[in-house]
Amino acid sequence: MTLASDRDLAGRLATRAVHAGLRPDPLAGAVMPPIYQTSTYVQEGLGRHKGYEYARTQNPTREALERGVAALEGGRHGFAFGSGLAALDATMKLLSSGDHVVCGENVYGGTHRQMTQVWARMGLTFTFVDAADAERVAAALTPQTKMVYAETPTNPMMKLCDLAAIGEIAQRAGVLFVVDNTFATPCFQRPIEFGADLVLHSTTKYLNGHSDMVGGMLVTDRDDVAERVGFLQNASGAVPGPFDCWLALRGVRTLPLRMRQHDANGRRVASWLVAQPSIRQVYYPGLPSHPQHELACRQMSGFGGMISFELGDAGRARRMVEGTRLFALAESLGGVESLIGHPASMTHASVPREMRAAMGLTDSLIRLSVGIEDPDDLLADLAQALEAA
Ligand SMILES: Cc1ncc(COP(=O)(O)O)c(C=O)c1O
Repeated sequence: MTLASDRDLAGRLATRAVHAGLRPDPLAGAVMPPIYQTSTYVQEGLGRHKGYEYARTQNPTREALERGVAALEGGRHGFAFGSGLAALDATMKLLSSGDHVVCGENVYGGTHRQMTQVWARMGLTFTFVDAADAERVAAALTPQTKMVYAETPTNPMMKLCDLAAIGEIAQRAGVLFVVDNTFATPCFQRPIEFGADLVLHSTTKYLNGHSDMVGGMLVTDRDDVAERVGFLQNASGAVPGPFDCWLALRGVRTLPLRMRQHDANGRRVASWLVAQPSIRQVYYPGLPSHPQHELACRQMSGFGGMISFELGDAGRARRMVEGTRLFALAESLGGVESLIGHPASMTHASVPREMRAAMGLTDSLIRLSVGIEDPDDLLADLAQALEAA
């Protein structure tokens, strides 16, 4: 179990991003942690070792990442996994057959797929509600409920849930509150400060930021939850390799710097999209027209680079996503490069059509992951693709 120390938790966010998790390398004093590419460790004698026995259980490179991300989220315990969905898998294993989960209806398609096609078969039950309305979350609780799970902002509708209100509801009911903080990152939102028990990340996205690895993280400040997650991380074994941990950690060092530019570019692009007469609706919490803009200002300190918009015509949407030159048509998000996607046929294809329709995820919805390029080039690219669509 990896524990962030007071030293890791010292300093403000940008300082933590650079320093948290690092320990001077005992052999050579390397500034950056070595990649401990090993499966096992020599023991001096039976039961006598340096705290490292086998690399599924402990790896110093992984621990540096775990301490670093835990410190950014303001939790003491961090756990790295082989993907965001592997982190979700461990989260669901905190529950037992017969337990009930209240989940925000608009979550990443793979999250919905794992819950309904893996965990439902193992005896967990789920109620999906519009978590933008905290009352609906409260109304969905049953005596069997053991967890409330939410994304905010949601993928791809960019709806928010009120973290403080839902945190209070979950605490009153004595159930775990789990928040997927992949979109906002700890730079702009720290769910633990609002009452979340467990924070999940796909480190594949902004934390790594360079689209060169796949990984996941869980962070908690609760010792009891950490104990169980640590057991599951080792017992189920979905751990990332040391090189991927190292890449994620290298990305984390520049997270605040990158997020500042994602945010600035996101605001520019969202404002431009709103001004285009052929675009019906723009979903971005940083826009004053977003129905939850006031909540966004209360619980987030920036809005990032994720934007969705409604073109109102599936054919035009297809032509637009195929017509950009700088924005690459690709799954994923959160890298330095700008991406464009069609959620209905890509990230959310596994969500049933009726459920997609109910939440407004139409065949003419486009999602952007706005990168850190020059915003004028990004706008020129969107303008030419929109014109040609
Ligand atoms: C919000 C969110 N959570 C979780 C995941 C799953 O992460 P991974 O792809 O690393 O398994 C994704 C992937 O797109 C995501 O967008």
